[in-house]
Order: sequence, then structure tokens, then C-alpha cells
Amino acid sequence: MTDRQYVNPRFPTLWHGGDYNPDQWPPETLDEDLRLMDLAQCDTFTLGVFSWTALEPTEGVFTFDWLDRVMDVLAKTGKRAILATPSAAMPAWAARAYPDILRVGPDGVRHRFGERVNHCWSSPEYRRLCRNIAEQLAVRYGEHPALALWHVSNEYSGECFCGRCHEAFRSWLKTKFGGELEALNQAYWTSFWSHTFTDWDQIPLPGWPHGDTSITGLQLDWRRFVTDQVAQFMANESAPLREHSTAPITTNMMGTYQGLDYHRLADQVDVIAWDSYPCIHKGPVGPDRWTEVAFTHDLNRAMKRRPFLLIECTPSSSNWAPVMALKRPGAHRMEGLQAVAHGSDSVLYFQWRQSRGSREKYHGAVVQHDGTSSTRVFGEVSELGAELKRLTEVAGTETHAEVAIVYDWENSWAIDLARGPRRGRMGYLEVCYDHYRPFLARSIATDVIASDADLAPYRLVVAPMLYLLKPGVPEILERFVSAGGTLVTTYWTGMVDENERCFFGGFPGPLRELCGIWNEEIDALHDERTVDVEFLSGNALNLVGRFSATELCELVHAEAAEVLAAYASDFYAGRPAITLNRYGLGEVYYVASRNDRALTDAFYGALVQRTGLASDFDRPLPQHVYARKRSGTREHLFLINTGDQARLIDTSGSGYADPQDRSLPNSVTLPPHGVWVGVRPLSVAPSPIRERLSDAR
Ligand code: GLA
Ligand code: ZN
Repeated sequence: MTDRQYVNPRFPTLWHGGDYNPDQWPPETLDEDLRLMDLAQCDTFTLGVFSWTALEPTEGVFTFDWLDRVMDVLAKTGKRAILATPSAAMPAWAARAYPDILRVGPDGVRHRFGERVNHCWSSPEYRRLCRNIAEQLAVRYGEHPALALWHVSNEYSGECFCGRCHEAFRSWLKTKFGGELEALNQAYWTSFWSHTFTDWDQIPLPGWPHGDTSITGLQLDWRRFVTDQVAQFMANESAPLREHSTAPITTNMMGTYQGLDYHRLADQVDVIAWDSYPCIHKGPVGPDRWTEVAFTHDLNRAMKRRPFLLIECTPSSSNWAPVMALKRPGAHRMEGLQAVAHGSDSVLYFQWRQSRGSREKYHGAVVQHDGTSSTRVFGEVSELGAELKRLTEVAGTETHAEVAIVYDWENSWAIDLARGPRRGRMGYLEVCYDHYRPFLARSIATDVIASDADLAPYRLVVAPMLYLLKPGVPEILERFVSAGGTLVTTYWTGMVDENERCFFGGFPGPLRELCGIWNEEIDALHDERTVDVEFLSGNALNLVGRFSATELCELVHAEAAEVLAAYASDFYAGRPAITLNRYGLGEVYYVASRNDRALTDAFYGALVQRTGLASDFDRPLPQHVYARKRSGTREHLFLINTGDQARLIDTSGSGYADPQDRSLPNSVTLPPHGVWVGVRPLSVAPSPIRERLSDAR
């Protein structure tokens, strides 16, 4: 159908494997590992992530022989390497020789050697060392037959508060404000609490617990600056890779990690990759958690609108979780196939072989301390490996989504930084999940995008709580709706500009005309309180019923908009709760409160019908089961059961065959956490509205 977008066209398959640290083991372990790798059906190994000292035991002295051997043997045995630059963990010799490469904490105290990602972002010395080892690797392995991908550093994270980083921040601000201190004072509204700066040198490092947290614009800029610093740091160590090698570049991101704007870091890489550990922190992994994982896959895929890599996951449990619950039998297969269904071209683990000592010795691994292939985990891994081989023709295929949910890092930061109206509990991400869930339940492919992304591919765009409007965003939204698109937005939208200053002239500020409403006030509800919301008779969506809202209810006035639902309790009973504004060729829905799941589901059910969005599987599926399609030369359908009850699915007449025995089942039974994959010839018709929307641009 379309051209394939392989991670690396030299290896046009689904990749299976993980982080491998042969430098922790005596050389003879390699032969045993190779035997086990074949048994586990693993072919892709990430090397050298934490190997700096093994590669450069003292400055300028290099010991590549062990890595030569591993790279060569991988090539010889038909496997491949994802080769890392080792900058995430500095060598002890480097910390000793150049103490100021170590990171300084928010208290101004320099860290000692140890841990990882413990470096200053702006240290020229550290950048020199990083670039040098990257160059050595690039020259030596840049065209090695085993090299599939560069893995630059590991999980970039954190901030440095040293004097040099402080200076760098001030000069970043000077550039941003064109050298006009007055512009900065205006942008940050610093006359509040007498925070006006009369010299650039007075600008402090922001942040709790030792620095200012009141100037929210300054804190936003600090976070933007940190992303820029990391992007520069990454560009520095990537430069020699680009110079000496044609292999693509990635780095492993961490989902919705708040320390970096990944939409901006994405510009530095050729391929998006992320580390998924869904069993974390929060207790048992149920359907809601798999919804969050699905959302994060869609976020990663949509960053480049092409396949991404699941570059780390655990084959069993994560030792940093307070409770190391094991994955239930079958859950691992589901996790892997779910990733593939959402556009991953790999299932890669942290880690291949469990280390014997130090921090992560109890973290899940394919090969555990018994060192054999006879474990439950090894069995599940090798079964998944065999299945990925059977499905390998889906590699490089794209996902076509006509719905986008906006999830934006700057917006998230701004919502968190603002004092009000439910401090620390605005629930931006949870609200994004709420608005994503109804599409997942209906098996409708969804992209998760930044607020200033190109909207041409979409029919329906949902932008929950779009509190901060980046420059240009109101125009992007207006163009989208004028040309026939449908936009949904909610309370706490259009409140502040990019410096976190409130808009004048009535909220939602520059979106007031587009939404056809004026938001006059917002009521924050205590946890146990709810407010009734009721659909008005004869509303354009034909919805009926009384539902409830929690957390936040805006008191809006319908201006040009028509009212679809109204509050039905409290002193604002009768005021609009959901409105529709017809604008140009399109429509804008404003949802004024955080509504219960039943309302949100009914609302999107009606919108899906109204906009004619197609499902990946054209029949209703039981609760907690959804479908995803990937189409290449044939269509692959993934039916995914995220629940813990077996489900019977009617597949009769769908034309999907079992890829193994080619039978055309009339029904399939999905066990708890079960996945069924079916395959059929292509039947994709182009979407007329998509063409219309792109013609309009
Ligand atoms: C992260 C890191 C790995 C390892 C795993 C353990 O994702 O990148 O090095 O520490 O966590 O879960
Ligand atoms: Zn620093």
C-alpha cells in the first residue's frame, strides 16, 4: 500500500531482544548467551549503555576488543546491535579528574560521584569527553554490519543548578527577550511582590525548595531552557554519529515524564523509542493502566507519524516498584502485542541477563540468576519471539488516525505551576485519558499530538484543558474548524499566553469567538461533591439523560453557541454545561465540566457517528476489548483483551484468518489478557474528508 517506514531498512523486521551487558560477564558467557538468544528468539541487543569505563578505562585509552567480538558475533549469527553512547553514566576517573562535570542540586551542593545521569548539562569538559567517546564508537562501528541503530545516552533527565548552568539560563533569557529586560519583566509580571529585575544578573535559578516558585513564567522558561540544554547536549554527542555513520539515531524516552518536552527532543532523533513500565507505583495493572499505555504508545507513534520502538519493558517485574508484582501469565504477550498493534516495530527488554550485584539485580530479565532457559519468563519470551517472527510483515507499516488528542508538555507544566483552582490536583493527564478512552473502546485509531501540531490529517481534534495557548495555536484551530474539522475542548482552556499571563477580554481568550462562549467563573468542587449535568431535549447530538460532574465546573455564557446540556443542580443549575458552536464548515464543542465516564462515553459515541469516524473493527466489542489494525501488503487486526475475564468475539464474515493455520474462525475466545491476531487482504478506502481538509490548507 504505502511505502514502508522501517526503523532501519537494512533490518525490515520486528525486533525482539533487549539491553545486553556482556562487559559485566567473563568472555565465555557470550557463547552461552548466543545459544540462549536463539532459544529465546531474540535478535536485537542494546549494547554499551553503561560501558564507558569498559571502553575507556582511563582518558584517551580505549579497549574495544570485547565490543568488537560481540558486534562481530552478532553480525555472524544474524543478529543486530543497537549501540549506545555511554554518557548516562560517567566514569569514576572523569569525576576525579574534572570534579565540576558533576551535577549540582537545587540546594547548590555539588553531587559526589555515583548513581547515573549525574552530570552538568552545560559542562564543556563533559561534552568534550562525551563527544570523544561517541566519535571513537562512530568511527569504529559506524558501518559495522551488525549496527542497526544508535542509542544516544539513556533516559535524559534532571536539572543542574551550578553557576555555569545559571549563566547559560540567563543568556538563554537574553536571547528570548532580545536583550530587553523590560520585556522580561512585563512577560513575567514581576512587579508582583517587587520581583522586578533591574539587571540580568539578578535573575535567580527558580524552583522549590530553595528558589522562587512565584514567578510562574520564569519557571516555565526554566523548563523550556532545560529541554533546550538537553537537546544541545544530545546534538553534541550525536554529531560524530551523523558524520561517520548512516545508521539512524534514537534515545529512550519515558512516556509522559515531566522533566523534558519530548515533542521538542523528538527533533533530535530519527526514530522514537520509549521505555514502558506499566506495573509501577500504583497497584494492580487493570484495564485503565493498559489504556494509559495505549495512550502513551499513540503519543510516541504520533511524534513522527511512523513506527516507533518499545525499547525497554520488563519481561516480569520491575525492581524499583515498591511492590514487585509479577506479570500474570499471558500479560507479557499482551503487553508486547499491544505495543506492536499501536505501531511499535519491536519488543525489547530491560534486560537480557540479570546482573549479579548492585542496584538492579532483582529486576526482571530474560535470563535469570539460574542461568537457564527453563524458567516461566524465558518460556513466555521465546513464545512471543516466535510470534513476532510470524507477524514480521507488519514492520514499517503506518497507522492512519483521523482523531487526535492534544497532550502538550508546556500546557501540562503551566497547569501544574499555576496556583488554582485545585492546586496540584488539576488532573490534566487523567483528563486526557478520560477523553481518549471512548475512542479506544470503539477501536478508533487516535494520535496524541502537541498543541501546535499540523492538524491536516484529522477530522476530529480533542484538546482537553488547553490552558496555555502557544503562539499560533488559535489560528491553527480556527483554520482546522473553518475547513470542516470538529474540535472539542473543555474547561480551563484559553486562560494564559506562553508566559503564563492571563488573557484579557474574557476567557477562553483568543478562542472565545471560535468556541462561541464566555467563561465567566470556575467552581472547584471538593472531592466528595458532584454537580448534575443533563442533556436538553432536542439537542443536536440527540443525547438524553442526567449525569454528574466532579472537580471543576465552569460557569459559561453561550454567546454564538447552542446549549446541548446544562447543569441541573447547585446555584448554577440551568447554565450551559456542553455547547456546540458552528463555525465555518466545522463545529466546536465546549465541555464546561469534568464529567463522569458515562457522559464522556455517550458524548463521544454521538460525535463518532456524527463525524463518520471508522472503527478498526466494524462491530461492537465486549468491555475492555478493543481492536487495532496495521496495514502493509495485508491487513493485520489485533483484538486485545485488557480485562481479566475471558471474552468471546464474533469474527464471522470479517474475512480475518488465523495467520498460523489460515482458518477463518467464526469466533475467537480471548482469555484474560488475551490477544488474537487476524490477517486479511487489504480493503482500505481513502477517506474523502481527509482529502478535503488537506485541500483546504
Ligand atoms: C530504565 C533504565 C534502565 C533500567 C530500567 C529498570 O528504563 O533505562 O537502565 O534501569 O529502567 O527498570
Ligand atoms: Zn551545571
